Amino acid sequence: MNDTKSKELYDKASSMVPGGIHSNSRHRNPHPLYYKKGEGAYVWDVDNNRYLDTIMGNGAVIFGHNDKEFNERMQIYMNSGIVTGLETELSIKAAEKFLSIVKTAEQVRYTNTGTEASMHAMLISRTYTGKQDIAVIEGAYNGWHDAVYVSTWPDLTKAGDHSAPNSLPGSAGLNESMVKSTLVLPFNDLEAAERLLTENQHRIAALILEPVMIDIGYIPAKKAYLEGLRSLCDKLNIVLVFDELLTGFRTAPGGAQEYFGVTPDLAMFGKAISNGYVLAALAGKAKIFETVTPGKGPCSFIGTYNGHQVSLAASLAFMELFEERRVHETLQKRTTHLIDEFGALAKKHGVPAKMQGAGGHFHWYFTDKEINNYREAAASNKDYYAQFIQAFAAKGVYCSPNYLLHHAISMAHTDDIIETMLTYMDESLGSIKL
Ligand SMILES: Cc1ncc(COP(=O)(O)O)c(C=O)c1O
Repeated sequence: MNDTKSKELYDKASSMVPGGIHSNSRHRNPHPLYYKKGEGAYVWDVDNNRYLDTIMGNGAVIFGHNDKEFNERMQIYMNSGIVTGLETELSIKAAEKFLSIVKTAEQVRYTNTGTEASMHAMLISRTYTGKQDIAVIEGAYNGWHDAVYVSTWPDLTKAGDHSAPNSLPGSAGLNESMVKSTLVLPFNDLEAAERLLTENQHRIAALILEPVMIDIGYIPAKKAYLEGLRSLCDKLNIVLVFDELLTGFRTAPGGAQEYFGVTPDLAMFGKAISNGYVLAALAGKAKIFETVTPGKGPCSFIGTYNGHQVSLAASLAFMELFEERRVHETLQKRTTHLIDEFGALAKKHGVPAKMQGAGGHFHWYFTDKEINNYREAAASNKDYYAQFIQAFAAKGVYCSPNYLLHHAISMAHTDDIIETMLTYMDESLGSIKL
C-alpha cells in the first residue's frame, strides 16, 4: 500500500500536533493515515487508497458519509444566521422531536460531547442526592473526566477480585482521590452490585452504565440485572444514569431504555443523534432536571456551544430522516444477517468465534464461551482476533486492531456491501492458524 503522502503529512504534523493526531485513539504504527474524502460506506486516504469503513465515526455516521439528502435537509434548518449563544425555535423543535423518539425521557438538555454530558450528569446527581461519589462498571468508558475514567479497560493483573474490583485510573493525570472514591462494579452481577451499593449507599450519588457494553465490543445487560439495578437505585437514593452514547437510536430508536423497558433517571446520548455532528444530550426525569432549572435548583449547567445551531440542524434533519427511512429496521436486519452468517462461517472453518451486535453495532469475539462482562471479553483470544483483523484489513477494510473495540455499519452499507463483507470474513476466518 502506498502511504507516501500520509507519511509526509505525519512528518510535518508531528512537530506541531502531538503524535500528529487530535485524539490518541487515532494513533497507528508506524504513523497515522490521513484521509481526504468520505462517500457512502467508503473513505479515501490522501494517497488515494479506498477503504470500506466499518467504524463509521464510532457508529456516529449512521446514514453513511456525505449523505446528500441529509446534507440538504440540514441546510433548511441552518437559515437563521445564528450559530451559537442564543436559543432559537430550532432548539425547541429538536428537543421536541428527540423526546418524541426517546419516549421514556421527560426533558432534555443539549451539550457537545459525551464527556460533557456525563460531567453534567455527575453534578446533577450530587446536587439531587446530596452525596458525592460515583459508581461505574468495570471495563466501561463513559468519558475521560476524573470521576468516571476509572477501571476503563483495566489491566487485569491489577484489577483484584471480580466481585469487588479495584478502582484503577484510566489515565495518568486524574485526581487520585476522586479515582479512589469511585466504586467499581462488575457488569451483569446483581449480587455484587447489591452488596457494594448497599455498603456504600451513604456516599454514592450516581451509578452510570452502558446498558449494552459496546465500548468493549458488544455485551448486552441481562434484563433482570437492569431491573434489579433500577430498584436498588430507587431504594438507596442513587441516580441511575444510562450511557446511551452508542445504544441511542441503534439498540432501539429510543435507546436501550426502550429495548429493555427499564427507565433510568438520566441518560446521555450522542454520536448517532446528529449523524456525526458535534452534539450530545442529557435526557431524563423532570424532577431531577429541577436541580438545573433557573429559579428551582442550584446546579449549574452552562456552555458556550450548548445547543449549537449547526449541530441541532443536523440533529433535526437526522431524526426526521431516521424515521422516514426506517433506519432502525434496516440496520437491524443487516446486522442480524451478518451475525447469523458469521456464525455459520466460523463453524465451517472450525474457529471458536462469534459475532455479537444489534442496530448496526457489532463485534467479533474469538471464543465459544458466553461473554457477560469485561473480564470474560478480555479472556477471548487476542491472537485469533489479530490474525483475522489483519487479513480483513488487508482487503481494504478500515477496522479496529483492538480486540475489544466495536464496529459499526451505516445505511450506506447496502446488501451488496454486506455480502462483500461476508466474503472477506469467510476468507479471513479461513486464514487463521489455529
Ligand atoms: C459509551 C461512551 N460514553 C461516553 C463517551 C464519551 O463521548 P465523547 O467522546 O463525545 O466525549 C464515548 C465515546 O467514545 C462512549 O463510547
